[in-house]
Amino acid sequence: MFRKPYATELEESKNAELCLSLYRNSLKSKDMDRGGTHFDGQYPHVFVTLGASGDLARKKIYPTLWWLFRDNVLPLNTIFYGYARSKTSVNEIRQKCEPYMKVKQHEHEKYEEFWKINHYMSGQYTSQTDFELLNKEIEKFEKGPVANRLFYLALPPSVYEDVTVHIKNNCMGQKGWTRIIIEKPFGRDLETSNKLSAHLSHLFTESQLYRIDHYLGKEMVQNLMTLRFGNRIFNPTWNSDHIASIQISFKEPFGTEGRGGYFDEFGIIRDIMQNHILQILTLVAMEKPASIQPDDIRNEKVKVLRNIPPIQVKDVVLGQYVGNPQGEGEAKLGYLDDPTVPKGSVTPTYALAVLRINNERWEGVPFILRCGKALNERKAEVRIQFKNVPGDIFAGKPKRNELVIRVQPGEALYVKLMVKTPGMAFDMEETELDLTYSSRYANVKLPDAYERLILDVFCGSQMHFVRSDELSEAWRIFTPLLHHIEKEKVKPIPYMYGSRGPKEADELLLNNNFHYTGSYVWKPKM
Ligand code: NDP
Ligand code: BG6
Repeated sequence: MFRKPYATELEESKNAELCLSLYRNSLKSKDMDRGGTHFDGQYPHVFVTLGASGDLARKKIYPTLWWLFRDNVLPLNTIFYGYARSKTSVNEIRQKCEPYMKVKQHEHEKYEEFWKINHYMSGQYTSQTDFELLNKEIEKFEKGPVANRLFYLALPPSVYEDVTVHIKNNCMGQKGWTRIIIEKPFGRDLETSNKLSAHLSHLFTESQLYRIDHYLGKEMVQNLMTLRFGNRIFNPTWNSDHIASIQISFKEPFGTEGRGGYFDEFGIIRDIMQNHILQILTLVAMEKPASIQPDDIRNEKVKVLRNIPPIQVKDVVLGQYVGNPQGEGEAKLGYLDDPTVPKGSVTPTYALAVLRINNERWEGVPFILRCGKALNERKAEVRIQFKNVPGDIFAGKPKRNELVIRVQPGEALYVKLMVKTPGMAFDMEETELDLTYSSRYANVKLPDAYERLILDVFCGSQMHFVRSDELSEAWRIFTPLLHHIEKEKVKPIPYMYGSRGPKEADELLLNNNFHYTGSYVWKPKM
């Protein structure tokens, strides 16, 4: 049945559906370690990681490739190439990746097989000769009439332009498709991003480009469409008649951990808000697409973005963490204590911004985007707070309903609602309808976001990748604010490492129709 997956561009949409469903079925059981189904892809596929010696490659790309290989979901005839400037070897890369690979006892044989199909080539990012050599290396593997190539740019943006030109001039597959996967940052602002997009579109078609936002690969983010459009109960209330405010939050309990040099150039708005959180927002706010075809969905996402005016400075709170003298280890240190952060930096590590969507569904509903490092917990969630019950007959006792979609950690969906206090009393109390994935789907293995997305690239499915017009709209919304912050050197408000962030953020929440009562108590199942 799967004689020719991944074969040609023409076959790709059919293949995308087939291989995604097969992949998803293969992940249904946690016990599938050895039993997964191999695609009988007879054609060679070469996956090249550019920047193979780097942090992203070691922590994310190699582990993901191993998990996909381990679960037998890649075409049988796939090999992996690493390319970077360092004079290193597959063995050295293997050692650096080791802490992230999560190899189980019984997987050692398979793990050895994985490294046997890995190769490495050292080369410059600016050298045509080196890319010609890489092409020759790849060609050696491409026996038969069809062969496909994937290039993952796990590289700093400063070398994107050179590398993509060299891929285009020297490394495009002659016997099948070539797909390019790029990682953020896609530019620093509207102008630089548009410049990069123009450069890429001059070299490749949009269908060859896969812009990764790994939040689009997360289970609960992918769930948003099903939840909204696969259920009758939500859509009629999904609008400004019923919803008071929507909060999308990202919190991390650790600071820059020595990565301050990179972070300082971008700041939390570029690192998290302009991409991960805004992508979630589009899925929460978009209209129902005409179909689940990638471009129908992306068309709706772009429409939402086009209805958002640029963020105003008055709708933003910026923070920067300081060390907690009472804290332990890293928590004692503030952002400015990181030796890789420039002295006196005003780069924000926390941001809350209120956005408005000027369309019929959402006018008047604040979309509150929050993200921060060195906070009190790890959490990413969407919190939809409904309006007060009109015509209240319970003397102000009903609390607002909330629908919470928790992306991580511990995927869950819960609706906070009021019930009669169980027992003789005729009082009322807050409780929840609780869908906790770890108990409802105890035997289901949820793949890592990168696993889904890299497999999507093999399959040719662009549904969960960012299109260039989405990107440009996202930058349009944030660029004036970012330029203002940089030009005026706006000082962020200090907040303590391990706290909930600046208190001014809670004030802005309150002013934007988010009511926190502090009265809800959750009783986890024993
Ligand atoms: P809460 O009503 O306790 O919190 C609601 C929100 O208010 C959160 O976003 C919270 O965290 C924020 N908040 C806290 N203090 C303030 C403040 N002073 N001003 C403004 N906002 C504030 O409800 P939760 O939905 O958070 O539930 C409570 C706990 O129960 C959570 O830990 C949740 O994970 C757990 N729970 C788990 C379920 C599950 O696993 N299935 C189901 C239901 C609940 P912040 O602003 O810090 O992000
Ligand atoms: C990355 C950011 O895009 O996402 C990091 O650059 C952040 O700063 C990371 O830590 C968070 O991803 P996840 O999947 O761990 O929530």
